[in-house]
Amino acid sequence: MDRTSWFALSVSALLAGCAGTPSAEEQAAMAADARKASGALIQQLGGELKAALGEKGPEGAISVCKERAPQIAAEVSKRSGLEIRRVSPKNRNPAGVPDAWEAQAQAGLEKRLAAGEKPDTLDTWQVVSTPQGRQFRYAKALPVQPVCLTCHGDPAAMSDGVKARLAAEYPLDKATGYAPGMLRGIVSVKRPL
Ligand code: HEC
Repeated sequence: MDRTSWFALSVSALLAGCAGTPSAEEQAAMAADARKASGALIQQLGGELKAALGEKGPEGAISVCKERAPQIAAEVSKRSGLEIRRVSPKNRNPAGVPDAWEAQAQAGLEKRLAAGEKPDTLDTWQVVSTPQGRQFRYAKALPVQPVCLTCHGDPAAMSDGVKARLAAEYPLDKATGYAPGMLRGIVSVKRPL
């Protein structure tokens, strides 16, 4: 085989090896989809949380959150065809433990927040190789707002009723002690490629 055809063969082998890696444009389109699905989850849950706080007070809203947060995530997953969930290194829902990619994504977002980026639009994504194949992963920051402190703030400042309800519903709760400006967690989106 002469050098030119050897080179042509190597290039085609290389390209075949890369087949399936989404282009930058394809990744940007997937990020836009993930952003849309995350926005839908945040908006729906935020709306129901606000209504529940108004109608039932913070203690009643805890039950709404417990029941509805996973349901809404499942609904948005079904609608969008993406796997979507909320996770936090200090999780309240026992199922909300971040995996390695999610933990690293949140740490990266926290650095960017500390460097002055706006929290509301803070997100990141990556195509990763796993034993199950390639995946598109996406994370959107969930910044702590004043309303979150009712149930995620300094326990010394939280009402006894809320603390009692949280202790009953979430005996292993780690999700208190937050202040505005911190990240409560992320919305995580996963899409097998
Ligand atoms: C009325 C109380 C209440 C308020 C207010 C509240 N949360 Fe929560 N939060 C909860 C409960 C209860 C859970 C656990 C839900 C579940 O079981 O999935 C939770 C879970 C979460 C989770 C999922 C990860 C984990 O720890 O399990 C995130 C992220 C989160 N909350 C962010 C926020 C943010 C951001 C705000 C403010 C915009 C907020 N929460 C306001 C009660 C509340």
